[in-house]
Amino acid sequence: MPILFEKAPGKIILFGEHAVVYGQPAIAIPVTRVNATARVIPDLASEHAGIHVQALDIGLDADLEALSADDPLAKAIRLTLEELALIHIPAFTLQITSTIPIAAGMGSSAAISVAIIRAISAYLGKPFPPDLVSALAYEVEKIQHGTPSGIDNNVIAYQQPVFFRRDNPTEFLHIEQPTHWVIADTGETTPTRETVSDVNQLITNDPVGYGALIQRIGSIVEAARTPLIEGDLQRLGQLLYENQDLLEELEVSSSRLEILIKAARRAGAAGAKLSGGGRGGNMIALAPEKNIAAVEKALIEAGAKTTLMTTLTPWRIDDTA
Ligand code: PMV
Repeated sequence: MPILFEKAPGKIILFGEHAVVYGQPAIAIPVTRVNATARVIPDLASEHAGIHVQALDIGLDADLEALSADDPLAKAIRLTLEELALIHIPAFTLQITSTIPIAAGMGSSAAISVAIIRAISAYLGKPFPPDLVSALAYEVEKIQHGTPSGIDNNVIAYQQPVFFRRDNPTEFLHIEQPTHWVIADTGETTPTRETVSDVNQLITNDPVGYGALIQRIGSIVEAARTPLIEGDLQRLGQLLYENQDLLEELEVSSSRLEILIKAARRAGAAGAKLSGGGRGGNMIALAPEKNIAAVEKALIEAGAKTTLMTTLTPWRIDDTA
């Protein structure tokens, strides 16, 4: 059998993070400029019929049987094999690499799971459809995040802009006008599990007050759907800032995020907010085409570690810069 590889993109959430955990909708788009890759290499000369796992970026080089039940990579592999239910599995080495920043709100863990599930299922002759890939990746996300909403595995497995609501069929957004998004990395990282748990604590302590706040975020997401499809920068920009204000009230913003958001605004962004779990990670800025370069420059000058531009187009996600 030849070597086979599968890739899965990163993602960003445009609207609705955190509230999506509590049943509100959220909008996310894939970012194909960064990705995770899983490569299956047949071990024809191997003495034992096992599976070897290499993720050298994180120092992992071990047999599958040596990996614990809560290792996310092992879990993705085991779930795929269980689903395939084959009597004989030929020996292979699975190599995993990723260019998606870790713990930065770009879906690196879900993308790695999706790449693994796609690669092994295809290699063993039964490529899984996106709904099954997404469902299995969700099981792995539970190890990483505790109570994931499921948005990451959905947007990444389907590779399309999604309007996502927990326990509802995923809706795909049919974009009519392009919009340009600059993603900037603060260089700070806070595990999503931590911010999700802190938000949960706030809601537990004040269910009425924070419950209302979560609902207001949901209303912003509903309001953003049509402007995003139609490329209405002014309205989208306003909604991004409103969503950011509520995320600040949820205490998941940070001073570095806010410095970058202000810098983007001054440089001509239509709107900006944090994206993902927060307290670091990434922020996103919606830039009119003529201001993209100025926004990127301003973000770097204000301390962003890196920037990445992605265009949401009517036909595809085109990552250019
Ligand atoms: O940090 P990320 O990209 O994994 O995004 C987390 C998004 C949350 O809404 C905070 C959590 C979730 O499970 O949806």
